[in-house]
Amino acid sequence: MTVITNIDDLKRLYRRRAPKMFYDYCESGSWTEQTFRENVSDFDAIRLRQRVAVDMSNRTTKTQMIGQDVAMPVALAPVGMTGMQSADGEIKAARAAEKFGVPFTLSTMSICSIEDVAEHTTAPFWFQLYVMRDEDYLSRLIQRTKDAGCSALVITLDLQIMGQRHKDIRNGLSAPPKPTVRNLVNLSTKWRWGMGMLGTKRRSFGNVVGHVKGISDPSKLMSWTNDQFDPSLDWSKIEKIKEMWGGPLILKGVMEAEDAVMAAKVGADAIIVSNHGGRQLDGALSSIRALDPILQAVGDRIEVHLDSGIRSGQDVLKAMAMGAKGTYIGRAFVYGLGAMGEAGVTRALEVIHKELDTSMAFCGHRDINQVDRDILRIPRDFSGDWA
Ligand SMILES: Cc1cc2nc3c(=O)[nH]c(=O)nc-3n(C[C@H](O)[C@H](O)[C@H](O)COP(=O)(O)O)c2cc1C
Repeated sequence: MTVITNIDDLKRLYRRRAPKMFYDYCESGSWTEQTFRENVSDFDAIRLRQRVAVDMSNRTTKTQMIGQDVAMPVALAPVGMTGMQSADGEIKAARAAEKFGVPFTLSTMSICSIEDVAEHTTAPFWFQLYVMRDEDYLSRLIQRTKDAGCSALVITLDLQIMGQRHKDIRNGLSAPPKPTVRNLVNLSTKWRWGMGMLGTKRRSFGNVVGHVKGISDPSKLMSWTNDQFDPSLDWSKIEKIKEMWGGPLILKGVMEAEDAVMAAKVGADAIIVSNHGGRQLDGALSSIRALDPILQAVGDRIEVHLDSGIRSGQDVLKAMAMGAKGTYIGRAFVYGLGAMGEAGVTRALEVIHKELDTSMAFCGHRDINQVDRDILRIPRDFSGDWA
C-alpha cells in the first residue's frame, strides 16, 4: 500500500490513476503558467518564526467561516468536472468534507447535480454560481440551490470569458471523453477509473443536462456552456443576484483593493482573494501576494478568504496569520479524489489539518483564532512596490 505523508504523495498516485486528459485539466494554468507556478512558490517566500517553551497542550483549529462552524479554516473550492476525476466525485468530496467538518462548494460545472449532492449528504453545502446569459436558466438554478438547502452562494467573478489552457485544447477535453484511439489507449491503463465510470450514470454536466430548453444532445453541452458565461456581468447584476438569492453571499476572484471595496459595498458577506488557481489571467499576482492590500482596504468590513496555491497546512497558517479568515483548496483535494476517491479527499484534509495544527504549535500558538502576523517573516517587498 502506498504511504501518504503529504499532498505531493496524493498527486503522484492521482497522476497514475486518472486519465491523462483530466490530470492535465487539473494540473495546468493558463498560457505560460506563470501565475499558476507563483501561487505556490510565493507561499515558500514567507517564513515562520519558531517559538519555544510555550504550553502547546489543548490546541484547536476550530473557527468560523461566514458564521458557520468549521473544524479548520479550509473549505473545498468549487472544481468543475470533479465527477470525471473519480466516478461520482462531487458526492465523494462532499461526504468527506461533511465528515471532516469543513464546507464543500459545488461548482455550476459539476458532473453530479445539486440535487444528487443534496440527496447523498446531510450537511448544507455551498454552491458556486457562474453567471450565465440565459436568465431563465440562471433563475431556475438559484431556485434549485435554495430548494437544496445550500447555506451560501459563491459567485465567481473572474470567468466572464475563459482563459486558455493549451493542454485542454491538445487533449480535446470533454465529459465524457470522446472514444478516439488516443483516449482509448490511455483509458485502457486506468482500469480503476473505468470501473467506477461504468458503475455510474453521472458522466455529463448534471446541473445543465435536462435543465436547458432546446438542448437534448449531451455532446453539445460543453459548447453551450462555454458560450453561456456572461461577459456583461457587472456590479449591478451582482446586486440583482444577491436579491434573488437572499442568503449568505461570497464573491470569488477578487484580486484588487478597488474591487474588494465594491464587493463590500454591494453587501457581500465575504470575498475570496483568488486568481482561479492561475487558470485565468496569466501574469496576475499570486493570491498570497495580493492579500495584504485587500486586507488593508476592507479587512475590517468584510471577511476576506483566500485560495490559489495552497498545498499544505503551513500555507493555510501563513494565510491566516496574514489576516485571512478562511482558505480553500482546489487541486489539493482533487489529487486525493483522483488517487483514492472519498478516502483520498479525507486523507488530503487530514494531512493539511495535521500540518496546520503542528506548525501552529511550533509557532507558539494553541488556537488558530489567536494566530497573527507575529509568527511570520514576510520579505519587505512581498506585496511589491509596483509602479
Ligand atoms: C480543475 C479545476 C477546475 C476548476 N473549476 C472551477 C469552477 O468550476 N468554478 C470556480 O469558481 N472555480 C473553479 N476552479 C478554481 C478553484 O475554485 C480554485 O479557485 C483554485 O483551484 C484554487 O487554486 P488551487 O487549485 O491552487 O488550490 C477550478 C480549479 C481547478 C484546478
